[in-house]
Amino acid sequence: MSDNTNINRTQKARAHTNIALIKYWGKADEQLIIPEDNSLSLTLKDFYTDTEVRFDKDLTADEIVFNNHLMNKAESQKMINFLNIVRQKAQQNIFAHVKTQNNIPTAAGLASSASGFAALAAASSKAIGLDLSRKDLSRLARRGSGSATRSIFGGFVEWEKGNNDQTSFAKPIEENVDWDVNLVAVITNRHEKKISSRRGMKISKATSPYYQAFKQVTSRDLITMKKAISNHDFDLMGHTAEENAMKMHALTFSSDPSFTYFNGDTLKAMQLVHELRNEGINCYFTIDAGPNVKVLVQHDNLKKVIRKFKTAFGQSNVVATVPGPGIEYLN
Ligand code: DP6
Repeated sequence: MSDNTNINRTQKARAHTNIALIKYWGKADEQLIIPEDNSLSLTLKDFYTDTEVRFDKDLTADEIVFNNHLMNKAESQKMINFLNIVRQKAQQNIFAHVKTQNNIPTAAGLASSASGFAALAAASSKAIGLDLSRKDLSRLARRGSGSATRSIFGGFVEWEKGNNDQTSFAKPIEENVDWDVNLVAVITNRHEKKISSRRGMKISKATSPYYQAFKQVTSRDLITMKKAISNHDFDLMGHTAEENAMKMHALTFSSDPSFTYFNGDTLKAMQLVHELRNEGINCYFTIDAGPNVKVLVQHDNLKKVIRKFKTAFGQSNVVATVPGPGIEYLN
């Protein structure tokens, strides 16, 4: 074990959550979290996690406080496993105080392992004395949760699947999004999902007869999406994201046992997006592994879209945001 006298300091980091426009759904390596395919996301400004970490040689176990609640061992196991990886990398054997807070407006139902593990990767690695590049931070965050790989960077981000721990990491495609992209989150359910993404993607890969087809179309969708982003072509981006999301959700329906993340209100929100488009308002939905719907829209149509969803789902269930930055150290 190396000398740990200089690491008794608190490090704080902020990571923003991201929404996948081209979905990650399936692992080539479950242990190292290497995905089957590349994926692409947009980091979001108003939904983020702040985490502070201090390693302390007087502690006899990790102590993790999440949203002001001291977690028990079962609740914190995934984070403890992650801290074990950080300790191993740094060759240190000391436990940590972790304080983490999800700053997601009024329980927006977007609590996310993406921002959670990205913030924990940044704060814990720095606190223990590792000075990682953003690429290496992305590789580290990946060990906590696949989608966290992308939350190290701002704006549009691609996770290159690679084929081992060294080669699987995210890269920014366009960090500062200086064109007109807005996102409206529509909350249809605030409860934790019954089937985790981890379990859901495993069942889909093992049992859906359409899994190979999904891989093929996803690699085509990725090319189209990158073209849409580089041309700032909002409609092509939105259309491709919506189609790719539906293909991912088709994998859940076609799994054995079959399952879905949609509820009745998810379908209603999708229907409203279709209605808005029929009225000439260009907006597009995407949905991750949960019932909430995210709507991509440009500024001129933003007010109309917000009004429509607030009328249908209530004021507090509709939250608008814009593209956001990558990892930030707060001290
Ligand atoms: C539908 O990153 O939550 O949001 O790697 O097992 O922790 P693990 O899964 P997670 O899966 C995210 C799935 C998704 C699509 C995406 O974000 O690309």
